[in-house]
Amino acid sequence: MIKIFSSLEEASNSIPVGSLRLLIIDGKKITMAHSEDGFYAFENECPHQNEPLHKGTLTAFNEVVCRLHHYRFNLQTGMEANNQCRPMSGYAIIVSFHTGLQVKSIMMQPANNLIKRS
Ligand code: FES
Repeated sequence: MIKIFSSLEEASNSIPVGSLRLLIIDGKKITMAHSEDGFYAFENECPHQNEPLHKGTLTAFNEVVCRLHHYRFNLQTGMEANNQCRPMSGYAIIVSFHTGLQVKSIMMQPANNLIKRS
């Protein structure tokens, strides 16, 4: 596992609710999203035609919308809303009081990688 933030507060300050951020973790590009429900991490390249997903937008329905063709991916399942391409792969995020936020380097597909904010 790789530490990405020391605390939820640090993560929230770095990635405000409603925003997306590109992170390079262990040489991999990962998009981190902060929705009203919490944090999610997933592959940066859109499963459709590889557009960087961190340049997309978040919806109120827990979806990331790719800016190129506007496919919508569910943050919890990775599924595209109309099954137009494969699901995006997610990463598990682990929160620990001792070590802060960590991301598991093992990819899951699809993944429920929700972090609930306390
Ligand atoms: S490249 Fe993302 S929807 Fe086409």
